[in-house]
Amino acid sequence: MADNLVACLEEDVSTDTSEIEDILSSYPKEPRFLLPALLDIQKRFRYLPVSAMKRVAEYLCVLETRVFSVATFYKALSLTPKGERTIRVCAGTACHLRGSSSILRQIEKELGILSGDTTEDGMFTLETVNCLGACALAPVMMIDDRVYGKMTPHKVCEVLRKDSCNDSE
Ligand code: FES
Repeated sequence: MADNLVACLEEDVSTDTSEIEDILSSYPKEPRFLLPALLDIQKRFRYLPVSAMKRVAEYLCVLETRVFSVATFYKALSLTPKGERTIRVCAGTACHLRGSSSILRQIEKELGILSGDTTEDGMFTLETVNCLGACALAPVMMIDDRVYGKMTPHKVCEVLRKDSCNDSE
């Protein structure tokens, strides 16, 4: 992870500055718009390029250190590129008691990554969260905005296969 971050900070792959300007121009130049602006940039680029964070600091008149601390505080924001799809496995109490750790292990095995990582092809990022608000369906996982309840390790393969198929439709 640390290596990824260093590489990312060094490369800061060619970010389209006009897109950043488009995003920023939809906000007044006021510090209170820091989080919404960062969320928009995250949504567009799937991470926060260094050049974008610097531009946000300049535009909203906030310190770069403030931008960096917000960027590293919220789980929804990332300094390294996230996958096209985000898989979230609930590790909250209800899900834990109903075997969410075996769901997580199965996904890690299927994708060849650990929680917190992104697949090499940039397709999936895997995360664990504390509660997805669907405890009655425990154990629960989500792929982007879609909820999958009463999961079993066997259903993981089915869901991953189906989800990929739905995309190619
Ligand atoms: S504990 Fe998993 S959805 Fe609430």
